[in-house]
Amino acid sequence: MKGIILAGGTGSRLRPMTSIVNKHLLPVGNYPMIHYALDKMADAGIDDILLVIGKHSAGLYVDYIGSGASWSVHVTYKIQEEAGGIAQALGLAESFVGPGEKLLVLLGDNLFEDSLKTVVNEFETSDKGAEVFLKKVADPRRYGVPVLENGLISSIQEKPEQPPSEYAVTGMYLYDSDVFEIIRSLKPSARGELEITDVNNVYAGQGRLGYRLLTGWWTDAGTQLSLLDAGLWLSGNGNA
Ligand code: DAU
Repeated sequence: MKGIILAGGTGSRLRPMTSIVNKHLLPVGNYPMIHYALDKMADAGIDDILLVIGKHSAGLYVDYIGSGASWSVHVTYKIQEEAGGIAQALGLAESFVGPGEKLLVLLGDNLFEDSLKTVVNEFETSDKGAEVFLKKVADPRRYGVPVLENGLISSIQEKPEQPPSEYAVTGMYLYDSDVFEIIRSLKPSARGELEITDVNNVYAGQGRLGYRLLTGWWTDAGTQLSLLDAGLWLSGNGNA
């Protein structure tokens, strides 16, 4: 299985810090944010990883990660010229992923406790199309929110005013190689981006979107408060 870490985007909710350095290089606990996604990939047994980054701070990623040797993985870099959405960034991985090969995708600002090792192994040998990870949250309106029916996700609504469930779709995704054909069929959303939720909704519409619940803590670290919270957790001081 291939690993894709998406660390492009503008980090606009963390300005002005992200005017100086890309969001995924900001300190969280003892490390820059991007460190944790590499830890999770290595823990899941994935050693061939594509890191999609923007032009801003690109050299700093190489300074910190290099070839990936510190994690005993091999890291390849790809530049996303403009922040065209999560699905657009993922589309850049097409030539990196071999025909019929599966992929684990992590959003670089998602920090979490669960190990993905077992799930990755099970997905590798299954005939599932895609799998997402859900977490119960206090305010689902900030996230993709699943509509759950009879133990299946029938659809996902992106940042809904009236959430259809109490769950967030977190930023970890497992896909089969059909994902690239699906991305090519997408149209930009109202905010001008290719949305990962639209990708997942194609799988859901085909009845091929599985899900699991995360049992450990999870946060995205895209806002000042969630960044602080993540730092507390990762330095052993989290309390929720
Ligand atoms: O954190 C989970 C949420 O992430 C999901 O619940 C949502 O369904 C999903 O759309 C996403 O929402 P956000 O609004 O939080 O996404 P954001 O624009 O902050 O991007 C998240 C990561 O994706 C970011 O760390 C870098 C990467 N990214 C994003 C964009 C827009 C890219 O690599 N390129 C991009 O163009």
